[in-house]
Amino acid sequence: MDVPEIVSVEPKISLRGVEKIFGEGESATVALEKLDLDIQESSFVTLVGASGCGKSTLLRIIGGLDYQTGGEVFANGKQVTGPGADRAVVFQQYSLFPWLTVNQNIRFSRLLKASRGDWTSAEVEAASGRADALLNLMGLARAANSYPNQLSGGMQQRVAIARALMPRPPVLLMDEPFGALDTQTREVMHDLILHVFNLEKSTIVFVTHDVEEAIYLGNRVVVMAPRPGRIDSIHEVSLPEKRTQDMKLSPEFIAMKREIVERIRETSGMKTDFELLEKLSRQASL
Ligand SMILES: Nc1ncnc2c1ncn2[C@@H]1O[C@H](COP(=O)(O)OP(=O)(O)O)[C@@H](O)[C@H]1O
Ligand SMILES: [Mg+2]
Repeated sequence: MDVPEIVSVEPKISLRGVEKIFGEGESATVALEKLDLDIQESSFVTLVGASGCGKSTLLRIIGGLDYQTGGEVFANGKQVTGPGADRAVVFQQYSLFPWLTVNQNIRFSRLLKASRGDWTSAEVEAASGRADALLNLMGLARAANSYPNQLSGGMQQRVAIARALMPRPPVLLMDEPFGALDTQTREVMHDLILHVFNLEKSTIVFVTHDVEEAIYLGNRVVVMAPRPGRIDSIHEVSLPEKRTQDMKLSPEFIAMKREIVERIRETSGMKTDFELLEKLSRQASL
């Protein structure tokens, strides 16, 4: 008799009753209210919603950069109690070391480890190969010896992503990473990050206020609502796995965009598309 294969269905990230309250008494803000969410391994989940609905707070809590005031967070089978090498974070600000070259920025975490002397030469060699592969993958080979201030915003963000990917983190957390880039550069970055996702099979949680970006990148779009910060709805994206820019013009894509914009509009108390657009674009320029 065949023994059935045991398939692990444990989610990669699990949030149970997560609550975050900033401040106390009258001035308390409920940034997240009793939030439950499961994120499966190797999925690309996007969090979208109006400004102030708790997207960044949620991402920071998963990253262990901030603590919830209630509930539990699990990642990679362990309770999250602080930052860890298993969860890399990329922010809108590139946060590169300006005094290090592109190459040195990418190798930074490995250099630290090697300098502590707990590495064999084979490990040093393997890390070096990975850094070279990432330089190539991110189209940075020719900029390897440049300093961050010599690069465009798009190139700097590629370096930040390559640096985050260096230790092969099973979970990659991104908070509006392309928010400061122009439309064309963003589109290139979208296809690049999807390519990276397919190659590395990491689990990505990506925060954005851009509905189109959320649908194009995500397998699932989680719509959040403000006051108190919570999950409004979850939308499965049924586009073909291999995305192409022209899919944004498909009836499916447009229908989904309309549905999500409608949810954001309704939950953020904005009556017209114009108000919503204004609010979202104000957020983009912050
Ligand atoms: N450090 C903080 N102190 C007090 N309030 C905060 C702090 N960080 C965020 N908030 C509040 O929590 C809510 C959610 O913020 P945030 O997670 O940044 O939302 P988003 O990223 O969706 O714009 C907002 O009302 C914000 O003002
Ligand atoms: Mg934010």
